[in-house]
Formats: sequence, structure tokens, C-alpha cells
Amino acid sequence: MNQSIDYLIQPGGRLTGRIRVPGDKSISHRAVMLGALAEGVTHVTGLLEGEDVLSTIAAFRAMGVAMEGPQQGRLTIHGAGLRGLKAPARPLDMGNSGTAMRLMAGILAGQSFDSELIGDESLSKRPMKRVSEPLGSMGAAIATAEGGRPPLKIEGGRSLRGIDYRMPVASAQVKSSLLLAGLYAEGETAVTEPAPTRDHTERMLRGFGYAVQTGGARIRLRGGGTLTACDIDVPADISSAAFFLVGASIAPGSDLTLEHVGVNPTRTGVLHILRLMGADLELMNPREVGGEPVADIRVRASRLRGIRIPEDQVPLAIDEFPALFIAAAAASGETVLAGAAELRVKESDRIGVMAQGLKRLGIQARETPDGIAIQGGALQAGEIDSHGDHRIAMSFAMAALRARGPIAVRDCKNVATSFPGFTELAAKAGLRIQVNGER
Ligand code: S3P
Repeated sequence: MNQSIDYLIQPGGRLTGRIRVPGDKSISHRAVMLGALAEGVTHVTGLLEGEDVLSTIAAFRAMGVAMEGPQQGRLTIHGAGLRGLKAPARPLDMGNSGTAMRLMAGILAGQSFDSELIGDESLSKRPMKRVSEPLGSMGAAIATAEGGRPPLKIEGGRSLRGIDYRMPVASAQVKSSLLLAGLYAEGETAVTEPAPTRDHTERMLRGFGYAVQTGGARIRLRGGGTLTACDIDVPADISSAAFFLVGASIAPGSDLTLEHVGVNPTRTGVLHILRLMGADLELMNPREVGGEPVADIRVRASRLRGIRIPEDQVPLAIDEFPALFIAAAAASGETVLAGAAELRVKESDRIGVMAQGLKRLGIQARETPDGIAIQGGALQAGEIDSHGDHRIAMSFAMAALRARGPIAVRDCKNVATSFPGFTELAAKAGLRIQVNGER
């Protein structure tokens, strides 16, 4: 058995200086996918070289797409065109990545060959009916394991037709999966979202010259077009920046600038929620890079207070709640979250696992089916099990900045799925973090 990678973080310290966190995971996946399906050569810079994105790259290589890199965030993709993928010899392993599996399901539903998508222990427990059912209504044939879990067996050679789909959950992955299948479908594919979700797929499709109509909550495209290669500069991931935004907010004396962060309005719920809690955030040098808004974010320590988190912010901050719960633990008063049942089906049950960890550190946390209530207080020393969830591990690492003793975090190897180099960058900014175990 592999030895676990654990973190040991000494209490105290502050975060200072200027850092750039790695590239955005959502945008990186999409850049690889659309680049592979485009006509011509796509050059990507700033790509996240995390394991999740490497799974997507490996899948397209297994289907005959030539790529050079990734090296230092650069990837050159020789697009195969929408009809140019080849049958893979083996099942495609999506590792830990729900995004990769759900978006690939949409693409593979439109191919002429059969395929199978598999994943690791965490991904193998995650719900896939949310994509297999609507893709089925488009004419795809996708078999899941019991309970709608992976693996997904996808039959090739089906003709797809567009549908008009009203999503029951606010999910960018479901929306994107259907739009990608829609590229192969006859007629129009329309998706209506119950609340705004990240719109990177729509933006990037347009960047590749593909017409996408957006009217209110309804997004539409017609099948049968072509994608034209382009250059993509991936901004730094606001979801990775979030750990530092929280860490610097709770650690007295901190003054940290995060460079070149993607601030797409469908992703900035974390900024809004932290500001409501009293955080001191300043967006500097706002600019647009390849169709995505980007800024440098300066964060200084402040006294946070508990709030009731506005429910409309939930899909806009969906990946940042583990970090926000640490902010809530360090705030005065109570923070209450509701309407976030989706957190229970992420890489781990993020409500259950965070509540368990917070209690271990002496913080009162009360779970509800779709949220949590956290009473701010003094964080004690303790040992945390991340349950293999990258964002849980990084969140509790930041908690040490305000703890009364060391915090040990177990099972941190999956940090590499989204944030390679986390411990080095965090140490550079001032976190007293040490890594034990193999790398
Ligand atoms: C993602 C969408 C979100 C998010 C995930 C990445 C994407 O999932 O949690 O980390 O890239 O589309 P849902 O859309 O299922 O909420």
C-alpha cells in the first residue's frame, strides 16, 4: 500500500508577498477538450498541470490526438476535428475528476465508436445519472453501474438529436456535457439552468468560433458546426486562490497579493461572501484575457464576522465552501449555510467531512441535510482526516494560521489533482507547513 502523504502545520504565522496560484482547473479541462476537437493547432499557456487535467490530456492522446507538453503550463494541441477521434484501446481513466468524466460523457456520446469511462475510489461513488439521463434523451446509449455510478459504458454510432432541457440542479458540468453532445446533435440543444453556473464552456466555444446563444437562463447551440483552433491563456484558479484569501484574512498581520486570478462573475461568490464577512479584499488591474476577466487580488487580515450566506451565492462559490468554513470558524458569531446539498456529492461529502474536522479542532459545527451552522471560536490543535479530498486538506492547512497548536492533516496526496506545488507556495507565503510521507 502507498504510504499516505500528510501535512503538519505549526500554528501562527502570516501570509505576505505576491504569489500566482496554478491555472484554472475548469478552464484547463475545456481548453484541452475544445483544442482536441478543433480544426488546427491550439496553443495553451497557463494550463493547470494537476492530475485531473492530466487525465483529460491522457484520454485524448488515447484517442489519437497529438499534443506537445504540458511543460510549464504550455500545451500544444493538434486538433483532430469534431469527427477525428479514434477508438481508445482501453477504458479511459478519469482519475479523481468529476468534470472530466461528465464532460467527456457528452463528447463520447457523439462518437462512432464505443468507449468506457472509469475513475478512482472517490469518483466511482459520484452520481452520473445527471448526465446519462439527459444524454439518453438526446439518443445516446450510456450504461452506468448500480445507482447511476461509474463506470460509464458509452455506445458509439448513435445519432443524437437536440433537446430542450431544464436542469434540476444548478450544475455547470451537466450544462457543459449537454452542450458538448449538442455539437454532434441534429438541430438545437438548449439547456436552462435553475441558477447561474460557471460559463467557461459557452465563452470558450465562442472563442473557438462556435455560435452559442444565451438568453436569460437558457443557453442554446446548433449541431453540425466546426471549432477553429485558437490560443488560450488560462488565468490562475480562483478556487486555489480561495485558500490564501481565507488564510490571509484570518492571520493577523497578513498582506498578500494573488496575481492574475480569474474573476469571471460566475466564480466570484467567494469574494462576495468573504466581503460580507468583513474581509479586506482589493481587486487591482482588472483586465480581460482570452474572453475571461482577470485581476490581481490584494487581501489583508481583518476581523471576520459570521453571516447567513445568501443562497444565490451557493453555485457561484460551490468549490470554495471548505475554505469558507475555516473563515467561519475564525469569525465572531455564527455562520449559516443552506441550499448547498450538492456539497455532499463532491470529491467527499464536504458538509460531513468539514463538520467532523471542525469539531476535532474544538469548533461547534451543526450539520443540516443541505448545509451547516458554524459557531466561530478558538481553533485548537488536532488531527484531521481529509478523506482524500484536496480542498479539505488545503482548507485545514490554512486553519493552522489561527490555531493554538499544530494541525496534522492526513491523506493529502490528492492535493496534486488541483494544486501541484501547494505546500511550496504556501510555505513561501508564510505557512509553517511540513510534508511527511512519499511524494
Ligand atoms: C465544474 C463545475 C462544478 C465544480 C467542479 C468544476 C466545472 O461542478 O464543483 O469543481 O468545471 O464545470 P457542478 O457543476 O457539478 O456543480
